[in-house]
Amino acid sequence: MEHMPYQPEMDVQAVAPLATRTTEVVSTDWKTGLPVLTGKRVTLRELRASDATSLFAMLTTEEVSRFISPPPTTVEGFERFIAWTLRMRELGTYACFAVTLHGSDTAIGIFQIRELEPGFGTAEWGFAIGSPFWGTGVFEESAELVLGFVFEKIGVHRLEARAAIVNGRGNGALVKIGAVQEGVLRKSFLRNGQYLDQVLYAIVEDDWRARRDGKSLARTRVH
Ligand SMILES: CC(C)(COP(=O)(O)OP(=O)(O)OC[C@H]1O[C@@H](n2cnc3c(N)ncnc32)[C@H](O)[C@@H]1OP(=O)(O)O)[C@@H](O)C(=O)NCCC(=O)NCCS
Repeated sequence: MEHMPYQPEMDVQAVAPLATRTTEVVSTDWKTGLPVLTGKRVTLRELRASDATSLFAMLTTEEVSRFISPPPTTVEGFERFIAWTLRMRELGTYACFAVTLHGSDTAIGIFQIRELEPGFGTAEWGFAIGSPFWGTGVFEESAELVLGFVFEKIGVHRLEARAAIVNGRGNGALVKIGAVQEGVLRKSFLRNGQYLDQVLYAIVEDDWRARRDGKSLARTRVH
């Protein structure tokens, strides 16, 4: 999340009228509309302009935002961010999912994915979830859905993430879903006037498939 690409000051294009865009898009081509990803407790879907209010409330708290790129500071800023995510998705270089809980359409967090090279062979992801939902399993379930989308629908073969070393929870979250620590990027992230060291993590497609197949095998044995 730290270096995810949206920067409000760079976003000078007019905001498209998205408020009327309320229908779910179920598409085989993610560039024309993100698929809806459904788990046991969470549904991940494309962002909508109407998510701006809840995302502003969820993602601008000190505990959520302290180790990530500064989020927009107003609801209107989030509306511009959401419009930007849709434009980038259409270009095929980026995707952003809203996390919702079954029975509620309120966005409580986001998962972002961006290409690191033309063609999306390697990519980076980042995520943030409102703190009332930390430690509830929402992150892990959402992450598994996003990983399936990244490796099977986009066709990524290597997915990177960066987490500030001081972000214990962010590092713990990545490790628990199978991300492998590959190195330390010294003083690579400027936050509040201070350069922080980051851990570089990656999940490669083969690791993800082996882990997923191992999990299904374990489930088969239990039942
Ligand atoms: C990152 C985030 C989405 C993870 O969601 P979450 O619900 O907090 O994650 P989980 O509780 O499922 O997993 C976090 C793990 O880190 C562990 N952890 C917590 N604090 C830790 C610390 N200081 N050091 C190491 N591990 C820690 C937790 O125990 C947990 O592991 P466990 O379930 O095996 O006990 C959420 O914390 C968040 O939005 N943080 C703010 C934004 C952010 O930092 N994004 C990530 C940037 S890399």
